[in-house]
Amino acid sequence: FGSARQNSAGVNIDIESQWQPFQQAIHDFNQMTWKASPIINGKPTAILAAERITITAPYDHNEVVGEVVDSTSSQIETAITSAHDAFVEWSQTDASQRVHYLKLLADKLELHQAELVALCHREAGKTIHDAIDEIREAVDFCRYYSEQVETHFLCPQRSTSFDGIDQLVSYQGRGVFVCISPWNFPLAIFLGQICAALAAGNTVVAKPAEQTSLIAYRAIELLLLTGIPHGVIQLLTGKGRDIGQQLISDERIAGVAFTGSTPTAQLINRTLMARECAPVPFIAETGGQNAMIVDSTALPEQVVRDVLRSAFASAGQRCSALRVLFVQQDIADRVIGLIQGAMAELSVGDPRLHATDVGPVIDSSAKDKLLTHIEKMKNQAQLICQTPLTSDCQLGEFVPPTAIEISNIDLLTQEHFGPILHIVRYKASELDQVIDQINKTGYGLTMGIHSRNERTYSEIESRAKVGNCYINRDQVGAVVGVQPFGGRGLSGTGPKAGGPHYLYRFMQPNVVSINT
Ligand code: NAD
Ligand code: ALA
Repeated sequence: FGSARQNSAGVNIDIESQWQPFQQAIHDFNQMTWKASPIINGKPTAILAAERITITAPYDHNEVVGEVVDSTSSQIETAITSAHDAFVEWSQTDASQRVHYLKLLADKLELHQAELVALCHREAGKTIHDAIDEIREAVDFCRYYSEQVETHFLCPQRSTSFDGIDQLVSYQGRGVFVCISPWNFPLAIFLGQICAALAAGNTVVAKPAEQTSLIAYRAIELLLLTGIPHGVIQLLTGKGRDIGQQLISDERIAGVAFTGSTPTAQLINRTLMARECAPVPFIAETGGQNAMIVDSTALPEQVVRDVLRSAFASAGQRCSALRVLFVQQDIADRVIGLIQGAMAELSVGDPRLHATDVGPVIDSSAKDKLLTHIEKMKNQAQLICQTPLTSDCQLGEFVPPTAIEISNIDLLTQEHFGPILHIVRYKASELDQVIDQINKTGYGLTMGIHSRNERTYSEIESRAKVGNCYINRDQVGAVVGVQPFGGRGLSGTGPKAGGPHYLYRFMQPNVVSINT
């Protein structure tokens, strides 16, 4: 996708001269508390004492991080009306001016990186590596979509047909886009959706995940500081199940960008279908049942490194994360033995510590579901390894990284969004069936392949119905502008985020033919 744009460098915490001052800067935010409320037309709504919900850190519930208030029905109505009113002027604003605000936002995110990393730790439980990557990805989205607009959408595309008639193709915003985002990328996906919608000429009503409202609120404060017109971005805090129906049913919305679980996407889709007005674009990026296939030619040490990162980085809370490892019988004992050894070395705990590999899961509901699944699997399958938790982990929502050997992927009927790795052995003669079984899940987000046999990996890759396939490496961490990201089937509608086709879905194409 060749361009001169550089991805954000972030901070290299392995270089002492970068890490020391940055660590100090983050430390300054350790005692701070934040607040979040709806922001309508650039104004935060007042937080009344009775309405406040206290937010605590997922790694230690004694630590208060901030206070949030949920949006009321009349605030939802005002937010949509305001975004609707602001659309005409915004859509007529020169595209270079629109992206000017987004580029300023990217600079502000970098300037406030330490605070945002602290928020990622304390509200979302992200480790230092994940938190830095989160800010970098958010910055990359702002700059990448700005660059896409400057390269492709500043002027109408003109062509002359064989009969001498000129064609002008231009792209305009559609109207009010509703952007609904998940907690596991509380800044990057939240801002990625918003920047794409704004760059394309839409106004936005943004609904972040209820678990990560504080960082979303701070991001919108920074966006407003760029001088962007206040009407173009409206923030609604609160629970999706309470806000969603009113927001999605409103006939004035012109599109929905959603990232979250597959069941929520299906619910939103049903609500959109039930509306008796013109259909609108629905971009849904959803869950996965991601597999990795390892054949007997693979290098076991490399496999284990990539399995651990794919399954347990971010406490397994990535849509791209590895859920089911298929390993060929001939090397299965060796690979499983190495996995056990490596899992015993994982450090689980306070995500703010440099040495921590695996932080907490997002909340008690997530933890309960994951532990219930582990208990169920213990009865149906063989526990391979479980990383022990220290006593500090009792303060928060920790789930031990767990590897379980199962007989068949059919045992998994839904996504288990956490640090749980399922392992299935297969015989060389069963490779075709393995690919069929993976495809049969209906999900199609990421796949990993480890093989040194080019024919094998090419065959698997060509048959697998997935959006992003990674060969002889880990399968998480797609980079904006480098690996456009998104799935198929139950995993999403596309177009891929961070790729060259994403903005088109947010736009209305217009063709004019002129006989001059
Ligand atoms: P979720 O579906 O519970 O919530 C996502 C968002 O939808 C939140 O903002 C939530 O408040 C909102 N929501 C919930 N019910 C709603 C309703 N009825 N109407 C409208 N909005 C509603 O998902 P989550 O737990 O926040 O996120 C984790 C999920 O997201 C996982 O399934 C993960 O695989 C997926 N995910 C996918 C991608 C991707 O790019 N494919 C990226 C990140 C996360
Ligand atoms: N884009 C994220 C990844 O690739 C979800 O891990």
